[in-house]
Amino acid sequence: MEESWIIDAATCKACGLCGDVCPNRSIHKDASGKMVFRSDRLATCIRCGQCMAVCPTQSMHVPGFSYERDFIDLPKQTGSESLFFDLITSRRAVRNFQDKPVPRELLEKIVRAIAFAPPSFTPIKTELVVVQNTELIRRALPHMIAFFDFMVGAMKNPVMQLMISRRAGREKFNVIRQHMVPLMKTRLPDLKAGTEDTITRGAPAMILFHANRDAENYRADAYIALTYGFLAAHALGLGGSAMDIIPPAIERSKELRAMFAIPDTNEVVASMIVGYPKYRYQRAIKRDLHSVTWL
Ligand SMILES: Cc1cc2nc3c(=O)[nH]c(=O)nc-3n(C[C@H](O)[C@H](O)[C@H](O)COP(=O)(O)O)c2cc1C
Repeated sequence: MEESWIIDAATCKACGLCGDVCPNRSIHKDASGKMVFRSDRLATCIRCGQCMAVCPTQSMHVPGFSYERDFIDLPKQTGSESLFFDLITSRRAVRNFQDKPVPRELLEKIVRAIAFAPPSFTPIKTELVVVQNTELIRRALPHMIAFFDFMVGAMKNPVMQLMISRRAGREKFNVIRQHMVPLMKTRLPDLKAGTEDTITRGAPAMILFHANRDAENYRADAYIALTYGFLAAHALGLGGSAMDIIPPAIERSKELRAMFAIPDTNEVVASMIVGYPKYRYQRAIKRDLHSVTWL
């Protein structure tokens, strides 16, 4: 692993690709035509690795990176329109699962896929808890139900409503008021009676996405990571879905935080459930975006 910023003059062909792909334009040609790092910009390098990934002669050396450890050779042809569209059109939010555990090696592949999700800044802030212990999810469910029971009650009180809205922020509060509370009001009797699980959906496995509350852009990063996660699950013959109903319950419950090993410093941003799908969908669903403006 290189510990200093080096462009190997013996192999560099001064093609300039590194300078063009660098988000901060931290690499340029000097007066003699040699590619060099700009010392005035190195402090703001986000360590994205793009200069090393694009260099045809492996001449770039960025501290902390090694060609052997941190890069993978790509096939000549990457990306296939039909494969991509087949994958995204056939994906569904899966909420019904076979009674079958997900092998660890498949969960590891999902984790690998998630690590390829683009981060706003490196190092990556997203942290995962991969819950392969189905029993733990089942034990967590009553605590989640207790949280929603409390929340539905609290939302009847205007003072509590104000406190929740201050704490949650406008976007999350709208989700709580317009979706979670009405949904939970109808579901709670059956959830409490144990006749349905409309929270964890009987999933055999679950992945939690959390991050330090002081990290930058961690929520956006977590949702992009989550998207990679459920697409990877689908590609692997599994099914799953984002589950925004789960994070607030874990976030606000001491017991659940402990059960899922969430550090006090961290926010549980997102979650996905995963398992073998019980049903096969016959067709994709076409939807229109809210608006598309062409300029
Ligand atoms: C960020 C996000 C959060 C979601 N949270 C939940 C949830 O809490 N419970 C649930 O049943 N589905 C949840 N879903 C699944 C959506 O309801 C689902 O994607 C939507 O109904 C469209 O169905 P499709 O994914 O099959 O196209 C979530 C999806 C996303 C993207």
